Amino acid sequence: MRIPVIAGNWKLFKTIGEAVAMVRELKPLVEKCEDVEIVVAPVFTALSRVSDVIACSNVKLAAQDCYWEEEGAFTGEVAPKLLKDAGCGYVIIGHSERRQYFGETDLTVNRKTKAAIAAGLQAIVCVGESLAERESDQTFSVIETQITGSLAGLSAADFGQVIIAYEPVWAIGTGKTASDDQAQEVHAFIRQLVAKLADQSVADAVRILYGGSVKPDNVKGLMSQPDIDGALVGGASLKAESFAAIAAFNS
Ligand code: PGA
Repeated sequence: MRIPVIAGNWKLFKTIGEAVAMVRELKPLVEKCEDVEIVVAPVFTALSRVSDVIACSNVKLAAQDCYWEEEGAFTGEVAPKLLKDAGCGYVIIGHSERRQYFGETDLTVNRKTKAAIAAGLQAIVCVGESLAERESDQTFSVIETQITGSLAGLSAADFGQVIIAYEPVWAIGTGKTASDDQAQEVHAFIRQLVAKLADQSVADAVRILYGGSVKPDNVKGLMSQPDIDGALVGGASLKAESFAAIAAFNS
């Protein structure tokens, strides 16, 4: 019922030429992947060129951030409708690196999410606890605060354009993945929260991705969990071969 999403977050890597070369290599490797949405998120400057290369393929395009205003005197910002214009169907919002280094809060994530939805994008909204929070048994309260704040005021229809990514900060780029059970436990909790914020049918339909050191050799175990509907992949998405192997988790 929930179509899985495998999304590659390229962060601050790859020139335009490298991004284009990567998707050229990726396309034939994933053309037979069925029943999965495959998404790549290059840097802003590469979006439009990558969009041209992936047209008529099963690879879709995401940006890594957006602003919440449509236009105006906001130097350096990029509006959701401009991302659409560049060929994006998705935008990652509130990644932990943005929360940690760029002052992103649940309030700004909420504004960006609403703006992305209004522009017709799918918003991939990220949440996740730090190591200190996990070790002091605050995982569930942190996730509850982030989910309720980031998704406040959304209608049931809005949730149709929301994908949630659970990314424990201690698992990002560290090689330490949450165990299948640890991830499943939080995913199930997030689904319950969505049922409270909206209703059960919305909760049943919303895709919840896991992120944090997802690799070809651990994706199957994670994806076999009932509430894990995909992966947000950093490091292993930078090479076509490993990203394609992750996208082929169900083959
Ligand atoms: P990682 O990054 O796969 O390199 O841990 C995941 C992410 O930051 O989205």
